[in-house]
Amino acid sequence: MMAPMLAPAVALAVLVLFSAFPGYFSDDLNTDALALQTLRSAVGRSALPSWNSSTPTCSWQGLTCENGRVTELRLPGAGLMGGLPSGVLGNLSALRTLSLRYNALTGPIPDDLSRLAELRAIYFQHNSFSGEVPASLFSLKNLVRLDLAGNKFSGQISPDFNKLNRLGTLFLDGNDFSGEIPKLDVPTLENFNVSYNKLNGSIPTKLRKMPKESFLGTGLCGGPLGLCPGESAPTPTGSPEGGGVDVGGGRKKKLSGGAIVGIAIGCVIGVLLLLALLFFCRKRSSAARSAMAVEKVRDLQMPPLEVEPKAPNGSAAHVAAAAAAPGAAAAAATAAAKSGGAMGGSKKLIFFGPMAAAPPFDLEDLLRASAEVLGKGAFGTAYKAVMESGGGVAVKRLKDVDLPEPEFRERIAVIGAVQHELVVPLRAYYFSKDEKLLVYDYMSMGSLSALLHGSRASGRTPLDWETRSAIALAAARGVAHIHSTGPTASHGNIKSSNVLLTKNYEARVSDHGLPTLVGPSFSPTRVSGYRAPEVTDIRRVSQKADVYSFGVLLLELLTGKAPTHAVVNEEGLDLPRWVQSVVREEWTAEVFDQELLSYQNIEEEMVQLLQLAIDCSAQHPDRRPAMSEVAARIDEIRRSSLGNRHATESARDGDEPSL
Ligand SMILES: *[C@@H]1O[C@H](CO)[C@@H](O)[C@H](O)[C@H]1NC(C)=O
Ligand SMILES: *[C@@H]1O[C@H](CO)[C@@H](O)[C@H](O)[C@H]1NC(C)=O
Ligand SMILES: *[C@@H]1O[C@H](CO)[C@@H](O)[C@H](O)[C@H]1NC(C)=O
Ligand SMILES: *[C@@H]1O[C@H](CO)[C@@H](O)[C@H](O)[C@H]1NC(C)=O
Repeated sequence: MMAPMLAPAVALAVLVLFSAFPGYFSDDLNTDALALQTLRSAVGRSALPSWNSSTPTCSWQGLTCENGRVTELRLPGAGLMGGLPSGVLGNLSALRTLSLRYNALTGPIPDDLSRLAELRAIYFQHNSFSGEVPASLFSLKNLVRLDLAGNKFSGQISPDFNKLNRLGTLFLDGNDFSGEIPKLDVPTLENFNVSYNKLNGSIPTKLRKMPKESFLGTGLCGGPLGLCPGESAPTPTGSPEGGGVDVGGGRKKKLSGGAIVGIAIGCVIGVLLLLALLFFCRKRSSAARSAMAVEKVRDLQMPPLEVEPKAPNGSAAHVAAAAAAPGAAAAAATAAAKSGGAMGGSKKLIFFGPMAAAPPFDLEDLLRASAEVLGKGAFGTAYKAVMESGGGVAVKRLKDVDLPEPEFRERIAVIGAVQHELVVPLRAYYFSKDEKLLVYDYMSMGSLSALLHGSRASGRTPLDWETRSAIALAAARGVAHIHSTGPTASHGNIKSSNVLLTKNYEARVSDHGLPTLVGPSFSPTRVSGYRAPEVTDIRRVSQKADVYSFGVLLLELLTGKAPTHAVVNEEGLDLPRWVQSVVREEWTAEVFDQELLSYQNIEEEMVQLLQLAIDCSAQHPDRRPAMSEVAARIDEIRRSSLGNRHATESARDGDEPSL
């Protein structure tokens, strides 16, 4: 009775099995589990408590399974110690991503890694691996990313890297590689770093397009590092002020029209692809989430303006003038009115940008607005002013400004000239002897600081990783734009309370340039935890000091901890130092915000962003990256995470984005 029914059932099961894992049938999850247990007893006995046979293998920490095989093994900063045993990792034959970053692994890379034919990404950076890069590694045809930075690898860099013809990222910096770089020519290679190795000789031609930061701390010459001895200049050099080192920079200026059009088209296509990818990824999960994705895509195209004050054609405002309730009393505006008499010049708001031609409101409107205090900062108090026409603006009342009028107007014109979608625009200002007001767009969701550190009781919802990294990217781009407006242009006061959010949680940088407005009498009463160590005069903040502050901001996003303002004698938290000490002495996972740890598959990106934050907050200004590079790196981290999640969700092919 049973047998006839059973037979088709078994046949069906076998059929399903075969079609589900063709090609993997000889190895299975048990093979993986066995190899992982061996790995655990070799390097992670105490570090991986969840890896025990009483729980399903795919639920173990750091694993991602697909079609019944382990496809990703990610154990960044997990406390692994010792040498990788041979004949173990090679058994995980369906593995695509292998991340063992920030551990204390030693010894050589085992040879049997070459059996991992599906492998696309190896992240071994910041361990103590040593020896030569094994030749077997060069048979990994699918490898897109290889990061061996911050280890003790030695020997020459092998010409066999040329065999990896899908390689997009190769990081070998911070090792003991020596000798010359062979003639590497991997057309897909985009990110390359051999800084801080004992290399010498001339940089091969195909690598000369890389920035000089790819070759720091070596004995190399040529390309971005300037001419090698005996080499002649590629073009007659005309500009004496360039310092003569940056040959690559000189070439950049000569982009042809065609190239510019190409780049522009590339950018547009890139953005469209990203939107499509975003849409596509979300669409796969569920109907509800797909609706959200549509929402999100639409949001990306929304105009950045949060508040567009109404044009003043409705003179209803004036009718209501007499009845105008002082309410919370426009403290700022009242003060302005009082001081109005003292002014020699016009009692006017001066507008910037597109509004300069047709001011949407005037000082009178502002005086009649109801106001509430938004916050007190080092440079003055901010109010929200709601005008009778319904438009809301943020008004900042500056204190300690004793600049002479012409100088003030000159400097504020520079600030007002910065008009960028990721920077909260300074719409207008008012100047009199006793009163200086700045008028900005009002941002309805308040500041990042409030969002991160506000109490749960006051209705704060935890910020997820996606939102945090998007905020980081937008803020970085905003600051990078400010830096792009001039060699000495800086924000001067980057902190989480100066990153404001629109109602879609998109970030905008605000309050840039204020330190340039205060006079010599200005003395900040509190020391900011964002201030770079070399800054002694808060009015003179460099771009590199901005990068430091931005690094602290990133750490704040990642750790959820506030770099508190320390009054003399009071304990303040030096975030960069704290993070470095934790990363050095304990394990990286300890530093992250508990709120973030509940999300899956983001360790990789969190650790990458952490590394970037640490780079930004380097003690020495010269070691900090430029803001444009910071933005580019955050972008890359976000793209690769999108790509990874896409790969995890898509069924079989798992193609990496061709970065
Ligand atoms: C790896 O697989 C081989 C056979 O495929 C097996 O003999 C060996 O024990 C496995 N090693 C580990 C550590 O699981
Ligand atoms: C395996 O893990 C479970 C839950 O994490 C734990 O209760 C159990 O004691 C562990 N078993 C062994 C042998 O470590
Ligand atoms: C590079 O350094 C090695 C010794 O460290 C030396 O033998 C070799 O000649 C150097 N090559 C060049 C091109 O300077
Ligand atoms: C290469 O790595 C070093 C640190 O090892 C870093 O300072 C440098 O900025 C990196 N270069 C690039 C282009 O990322």
